Amino acid sequence: MRQKVTVVGAGNVGATAAQRLAEKSLCDVALVDIIEGVPQGKALDLSEAAPIEKHDSHLAGANSYEISQGSDIVIITAGIPRKPGMSRDDLISTNAGIMKAVTREVVRWSPDAILIIVSNPLDAMCHVALEASGFPKNRVMGMAGVLDSARFRAFIAMELNVSVENTHAFVLGGHGDTMVPLPRYSTVAGIPITELMPAERIEALVKRTANGGAEIVGLLKTGSAFYAPASAAVEMAEAILKDRKKILPCAAYLEGEYGIHDLFIGVPVKLGAGGIESIIEIKLTDEEAAALSRSAEAVAELKQMLKTLG
Ligand code: APR
Repeated sequence: MRQKVTVVGAGNVGATAAQRLAEKSLCDVALVDIIEGVPQGKALDLSEAAPIEKHDSHLAGANSYEISQGSDIVIITAGIPRKPGMSRDDLISTNAGIMKAVTREVVRWSPDAILIIVSNPLDAMCHVALEASGFPKNRVMGMAGVLDSARFRAFIAMELNVSVENTHAFVLGGHGDTMVPLPRYSTVAGIPITELMPAERIEALVKRTANGGAEIVGLLKTGSAFYAPASAAVEMAEAILKDRKKILPCAAYLEGEYGIHDLFIGVPVKLGAGGIESIIEIKLTDEEAAALSRSAEAVAELKQMLKTLG
């Protein structure tokens, strides 16, 4: 039977994710957006590319949620993106309202779905979705770590002039300035980058990774990154749809793991048909653990801000 993914928000990230899902023949795709004509138009345009791209995924768009009925996965990208000078956190009040309303509709039509949250500020939006859905924690997750580690991998490959495929990278923590890239666990063909580059070059790549989103916002000026975020969300969806048991860094709800309680934060998880099937705890040095707990504090502050927003 065909699997189905709904993408809410047919903007830059959402439409690109829909395109990648269809062109990889992973599933049928429903696109939902509040702007009249946009999800319908983009779904039709993508359907008309199908004969050339050689896939049979069905794509449809709508301004209401009936179309999303029975989805296996719902990727939520609805919200406003950043403009230059804005941090992800500046989006919180607008996007929290959108996330709550969207999640309620999604759950009505797809009570068994797995939710992949993309809207920013990511970790806070995951809290909103978890609460509004009433879903168990294994079925609500955020896309951040896959994107952040892809950025780190891309920069490592550029620096060493090697194939991106040979690179592996680990990034923990919140999706923001406090993210925690782990050079020790970042490798090229299995060799830790700490043996391949001087410490100051690693430091420069780590900084560029933490600032990766802002670098793109600064260049685009009218919006934020979308090709790589869409790729990252689709990699997570694929791991779930195909029950691949892939270990990927995702924002997961922690209840004591890494000493963190009741917070969404980026950690390595096993993704399969059950969503987050387990959280993988890796040993951290004191310095890394301190950086992770600083990151958790920043997420906790946002969670507190959500409470005051109501
Ligand atoms: N319901 C459905 N769609 C909505 C709603 C809503 N309540 N509110 C806004 N949208 C839609 C907008 O109409 C728009 O088409 O969400 C889409 C967002 O698309 P873009 O503005 O192109 O933003 P994008 O770059 O895709 O980023 C979306 O992902 O990476 C994050 O920070 C980013 O929070 C932002 C989100």
